[in-house]
Order: sequence, then C-alpha cells, then structure tokens
Amino acid sequence: MRLTYTSDVWWKNAVVYCLDVETFKDGNGDGVGDFRGLTQQIDYLAGLGVTCLWLMPFFPTPNRDDGYDITDFYSIDPRLGTLGDFVEFMRTAHDRGMRVIADLVVNHTSDQHPWFKESRKSKNSPLRDWYVWSDKPEPDDPSKVVFPDKENSLWEWDNRSKQYYLHSFYKHQPDLNVANPEVRDEITRILGFWMELGLSGFRVDAVPFLIENVDPKLPDPHEFLQDMRAFMTRRKGGSILLGEVNVPYSELVRYFGDGLGDQVTMCFDFISMQKTWLSLARQEAAPLADALRERPKPPKDGQWAMFLRNHDELTLDKLTDEERQEVFDAFGPHKDMQIFGRGLRRRLPTMLGGDLRRVKMAYSLLFSLPGTPVIFYGEEIGMGENLEEEGRLAVRVPMQWSEDGGFSPADPVREMPEGAFAPDRVNVADQKRDTASLLRWFQLLIERYRECPELAWGTYTVLDAGHHAVFAHRCDADGATVVVAHNLCDTAVDAELELPGLEGQQLTDLLVDGTLDVSADARVKLPLEPHGCRWLRASPPEVAPEDASVMSQ
Ligand code: NOJ
Repeated sequence: MRLTYTSDVWWKNAVVYCLDVETFKDGNGDGVGDFRGLTQQIDYLAGLGVTCLWLMPFFPTPNRDDGYDITDFYSIDPRLGTLGDFVEFMRTAHDRGMRVIADLVVNHTSDQHPWFKESRKSKNSPLRDWYVWSDKPEPDDPSKVVFPDKENSLWEWDNRSKQYYLHSFYKHQPDLNVANPEVRDEITRILGFWMELGLSGFRVDAVPFLIENVDPKLPDPHEFLQDMRAFMTRRKGGSILLGEVNVPYSELVRYFGDGLGDQVTMCFDFISMQKTWLSLARQEAAPLADALRERPKPPKDGQWAMFLRNHDELTLDKLTDEERQEVFDAFGPHKDMQIFGRGLRRRLPTMLGGDLRRVKMAYSLLFSLPGTPVIFYGEEIGMGENLEEEGRLAVRVPMQWSEDGGFSPADPVREMPEGAFAPDRVNVADQKRDTASLLRWFQLLIERYRECPELAWGTYTVLDAGHHAVFAHRCDADGATVVVAHNLCDTAVDAELELPGLEGQQLTDLLVDGTLDVSADARVKLPLEPHGCRWLRASPPEVAPEDASVMSQ
C-alpha cells in the first residue's frame, strides 16, 4: 500500500471518537460541558491515539432529543460556547493531527425551528413544502414508529393549518422534505458552511429516513446522496460522509453507491455489531463469523465503521425475537435496562458484569475487526451507565476525569453513576497511573491497530478455529498477514488454525511477548486463556547468519 494513498484515504483506518460537548468537560464552571473544556482535553485524546473526533449535535436546540432537535444549523448552542470557541477548538484539534466530523441532522428540524414555524402558518406559506404535509396520510404501520414509548404515529395533526405533518421520530421533530430542491440547496449550504470552518465530514443521521420519507417520492432517492458527496469532494477532497444506515446488508450496499463509492463513504456495521452481542451472550463465534462471511465488500475507497456501543440504545432490532431475548437475558435482564422493546440502555462494562478480562477481550475484538473502529467517550476507561436518567440519557453520563468526577466544579448537567462505576472507582487520572488499566489497554490496541493497516485495508478471511468459542480471522494485504484470535468463553481453550500460504512462518504476538511457529502443513496450535486474545504478525523464519552468508556469495 502506498503511504500517500493510505493517508489520502485516511478514514479507512481512522480511530473515531464520538463525544457530546455537553457531557465531556465544563470549561466555564456552569455545570454544562463546552468547547473551551473540550479544547483543554485535546491532548488527552491525542495521547489516546484518536485520529478523528465525531461531535454529537452542538447547535441551538430546545434539547428535547439531546440536541438532535435543531433550531439553527448555522450556529452553536450558547450553553456550549460561541463560534469563536468552536474555531479555537478546531485549530487545536488540527494542530494535534486530529480531524473533526459532526452530526448532520437534516432528516428533521425541531418544531421550534423558524422554518417550521413559518411552514405551519398556513397552507400558502412560502416554506410550506419544506416539510411533508398531508390531508389524509396512509394508515400507520406500527413497526415504523421509532420511539414507541412516546409516539404511536408518524403523523401529527396541525390544528392551525389543518393538515398532518410527517415526523419519522418524535412529534416535535417534523421531517424536512428533501424532494424540494430549495431544501436540498439549503442542506448543501449547511455542509459548505461547516466545511469552511474546518470539518472533514459528517456523520449523517437517519439516512434512509432522510431520502425516503419525502413527498413526492424522489425518482431516485440515492441521487441526493450522490449530489451531496460530489459537492463535498468539489469543495474539499478527502471529506467523508459516515452514514447511520441500519438496514440489512442487501439494502445497505446501495448507500455506498452501486460499486462506485460515490454516496456515503462509510456505513456503520449495525449487523455485525448485533451479531457480536449474540456471540458474546452465547460465548460462541458462529453468529459474528456468519455475519462477516456474508458482509458485502464496500467499494474501493469505502469502509465499514465498527462499534460495540454508541450514544443510543444498544439496538438489537436485526436479531430474531429469540436471539434478542438471549442478549437481554445475558446482559440486561431487568425491564428498566431495556428500551423500545428492541434495545438496552447500558454501557458495555456493566453488561459484561465489570469483568475486566472480558471487557478487554471485547475491545480487542472491536479494534481487530475489519473496518474503522468508532468508540463512544468513556469507553476507554470502562464507564457505566446511570439508569436513574431518562431513556437513552442513561448512557450519556458526564465524562469521569478524576476521583471527584472532574467534569465540572459545579453540579454536573447529568448525574454521574454511583457504586462500582462511580468516578471514585472509574476515572481517567487513576487509569493513567495504572499500567494494567483499561485506558492503557486502549492505547496499546490503538497503537497496534494503526501499525497493522492489514486489519482495516486488507482482505479478511474468517477462520475455522477448531473450537466453537473462538473467533479467528486473518487479514492479508500486499503479502503481509495479521492473524487474530479471540476466546469468547470463560475457560482456557486450544484453538487450531489452518493458515494456507504461511507454511513454516513465524507468528509474533503483538500484544504480549512470544512467538509461535506455523507447521510445514500450515497449521498452528493456539492456546488461549479464558477470554484471551492474540494478535499475531506472520513473518518468514529468520535466516541463520551462515545461511545468509552462503546466500550473499
Ligand atoms: C438517530 C440518533 O442517533 C438518535 O439519537 C436520535 O434520537 C434520532 N436519530 C433522531 O434524530
């Protein structure tokens, strides 16, 4: 792989770190995180090895959906700072070699957005067609209601202008109508505005809803994604769209752009994420192995974004009812841990019972899976959730910097967890001093991930490891190979791998000291501790000095 090319296509082995400015660090002591606080912590993120920050929405908002309900796309929520603070933050992130992307939430606005206020004034409003209105909508399909705890329809009657409006999410989030060219132009302006201020791209919220739920239906909804992507490439080569597209693989490939990669640059791999949880619950490699074997190849410069947890519920919507129940039973048996009938409002370490060995194995798996890892702030220190908070806010607790919290000198915006996951037990300062901590483990994994571009760039093959609990795969690129194995169960096991092409080669352990030899018939025995993990680089056996001199004669 040419280095110039790999750095042009930087997203293919980036380390993406998602955070909410509001809950990361309070720089002015009012209890709310802000851009000044975030800027103070950039060196921490650079030290961790993060190469790209994904900022959750930071725009003015009534905050009824944690900022995913926007009232002005061209400004900063005053609680989080000013545009000046934003630019200073961008400058600092770039100085430390980090790119920044932000949420692009244009499927809908807040109902308090001036556009919607104007649109709902009357059927003759000049902005009427900026939203989706109907006299008599089709009857609701209840399975399409995204937040069934609060909504029972996708349509809301507007008494003033006597029509229904479409809201794919909460009723206070009316859907924008991208069938209207004026709306598409405005979205393009939003992209251009933030790119001019230095963003390298966007995490696009709710992509299928954005292009499908419009009126009249677009002849080719994907054309709009192509237009967005072409615009961005014109303005700034190397900018990306990271799509939230939670649909089956067979539909998903279309969002990359039919083989050309000219729509969304990266898509979250929701399918293998859900299958990973099923594999963890069963302590069996098969669900994840099958998913990765079935997964379509993205176009040349496209990539999968891999994650285990994000800022939302852990959605298990693509599992069968029985499979979902297995994951609930294993990792979130109580009703208040579950949400929307399809997910869990918990963070990973609590789900894994605080078992550090297992938590470390799960993240080793994440960083080794073929794709670009995306982590949610606080995962690197093993933060837990606070179930006292409402709904999905349970996992969006303030970042735990030190024993006393360290997020803010004032009362924080949201309560920190208590008990085993409280800041006095889980915090950055302590883990920096502890070489065996999860934070140090993340640093090692990130370093190795970046040093092994085969993982993200190579051709991957899921291996049969000779034991049902072992997930093993190899990644090959340009004649170099990395072999990885994870023991999903809590007893020690011996895996046995067949590695065609590596006959007689040596495997060097990249996480601990040690080597293994591949036999002449390409087999290797691999002992794995309970929840053990190994990353191994293959290399031809060293030539003995006397043989070397013979060869050089
Ligand atoms: C997806 C976001 O991830 C979620 O947090 C939000 O509530 C919905 N989109 C609506 O914007």
